[in-house]
Amino acid sequence: MTMDHALPETLTIRFPKGAAAPSPEAEAGIDRAAAVLRAGGLVAIPTETVYGLAGLALLPAAVERIFIAKGRASTNPLIVHVDSVAMARSLASHWPESAERIATACWPGPVTVVVPKGAHVPDEVTARGPTVAIRCPDQPVTRRLIEKLGAPLAAPSANRSLRLSPTTAAHVLESLGARVDLILDAGPCGCGIESTVVDCTVSPPVILRPGPLSAAALAAALGEPQAVAIAPQAESDGPARSPGQSTRHYAPLTPVEVVDSSAERVAMLLREGKRVGWLTTRGADPTTRRIASSPDVVVVPMPEDPAAHAAMLYAVLHAIDKRSLDTIVIDAPPDTDAWRAIRDRLARAAAPAPADGDADGD
Ligand code: TXA
Ligand code: MG
Repeated sequence: MTMDHALPETLTIRFPKGAAAPSPEAEAGIDRAAAVLRAGGLVAIPTETVYGLAGLALLPAAVERIFIAKGRASTNPLIVHVDSVAMARSLASHWPESAERIATACWPGPVTVVVPKGAHVPDEVTARGPTVAIRCPDQPVTRRLIEKLGAPLAAPSANRSLRLSPTTAAHVLESLGARVDLILDAGPCGCGIESTVVDCTVSPPVILRPGPLSAAALAAALGEPQAVAIAPQAESDGPARSPGQSTRHYAPLTPVEVVDSSAERVAMLLREGKRVGWLTTRGADPTTRRIASSPDVVVVPMPEDPAAHAAMLYAVLHAIDKRSLDTIVIDAPPDTDAWRAIRDRLARAAAPAPADGDADGD
């Protein structure tokens, strides 16, 4: 398919969870997306986590276009999206018991399993590695699309490499513009951060990327307490076991600081004459309100519930990044399992940009 340079069309598709079937209008939109994909094109798809930039996973030319559109290092493998456990199994040379348990208990849902790859899965998808990452998204539009195609979709988050993931169709358009052929808009993503990635090729399985599904929820799915380990680089700078885990990542252009005493830090930056964005769960505190009265600070009150916090985090960062501020200060979240994924994303947003601009971002 040739790429013209006009902006892509955005199709609004309403197919709510629980509805038995899509409306004829929604069905027609999904059909158009399927046609674009069959022709080797790229479609931005909604998922419950973030929007994905999809191409046919078993078509190497489409997969190559995904890497080019994102500006992504070819060493960083893609997640393959399926509509069923059966389709997932068909992509694996061996389907581990742990993958079966996680898929059965948690799919459709925000968790990705890494398993040994089947011989027919193109090397382009897996960055020439021996494993493939697979998930079944909890999004009726996208599952219907995969079902119609009868084929899996490779889809990284629909953003330029190293930048914030998109949680709305408008974010996709801003980040990728004419690099995508069609955008399916099913409204804002419910989870708001990327899926939990679990390596099921080892025993016990290891969390490579924390996400909406917590370690506790995974242990419950696996049926054994302590049945899941967390890769050290998920919270620090150790050698990467998941190739996409470059430190700097999920980042707005404005510098980000994650601090324990955010009020003091914001007050200090204001004294230095800086313009500051401040994401805080302590919006109602008298100190916060006093500092917030400065014209040089934009305060965004954030929810104290981690799921609600995650759901709005990227949208808030996308919006505040446009305010031409000097710094974004964010409360350090509690060091608990429920906040692990948010801590991980914030740590990456605050990390310095790679000097060589060549990190394996996704
Ligand atoms: O929620 C999500 O997972 C979203 C939506 C669109 O599904 N996708 C997403 O994809 O976040 P991406 O490409 O931005 O992140 C994929 C992550 C990267 O950290 C990558 O390195 C890792 O999964 N990954 C992919 N294949 C892998 C493999 N075979 N082994 C280890 N890690 C893998
Ligand atoms: Mg990504």
